[in-house]
Amino acid sequence: TGTTRIAQDLLGWYDTHGRDLPWRARPGSPAPDPYRVWLSEVMLQQTTVGAVKAYFAAFTARWPTVMALAAAPDEDVMAAWAGLGYYARARNLLACAREVAARGGQFPDTEDGLRALPGLGAYTAAAVAAIAFGRRAVVVDANVERVVSRLFAIDTPLPGSRPLIREYADVITPDLRSGDFAQAMMDLGSGVCTSRSPRCLLCPLSAGCAGRASGEPERLPVKAAK
Ligand code: ADE
Repeated sequence: TGTTRIAQDLLGWYDTHGRDLPWRARPGSPAPDPYRVWLSEVMLQQTTVGAVKAYFAAFTARWPTVMALAAAPDEDVMAAWAGLGYYARARNLLACAREVAARGGQFPDTEDGLRALPGLGAYTAAAVAAIAFGRRAVVVDANVERVVSRLFAIDTPLPGSRPLIREYADVITPDLRSGDFAQAMMDLGSGVCTSRSPRCLLCPLSAGCAGRASGEPERLPVKAAK
């Protein structure tokens, strides 16, 4: 899908305004370690960035590699996970680490290969393929759903709008740097294109945003009545 104007503007913004998070590669450094990307993405499902940081530091200090994590006793990992919640994630985490260890410690480097690992859903497989392996993948989480709904003023309510949101996300995802693009969408969604009171004046995409042009970006995404 080449590189759209949206991708160019967003990546330019990310280079100066992206968050410096411990699981990201520093600018100019090689791609981040797949183990660290995978671990962070599993922790970030249902848990905020702020809460994850300390757990990520503790896990990577104690188990610096997927081989080390795979060799850990279940009860040590479950105890270290305490407080993050959703304990099924911790069980899947260990099952996945052991599966990767059985493969020699190398994560599969494609979205389909990753999707076959225990606990890796569509989101995590796409995120790891893009961020850790530089694969083009369309990464859609709740932040991305909000940003895309606003950019294109998608009026269809969630969750019915998901296929359409994914199509638009696919169109704007660049072939190169799709992992940075995904993380830039997350940073934009968490700090600028927020659910309440979006900071459109700070947004690198505001000039082309249909939601902003509508005058009521906060209305989007529309959610189906419960
Ligand atoms: N939420 C989930 N994955 C993330 C990432 N890589 N960066 C920031 N927020 C995230």
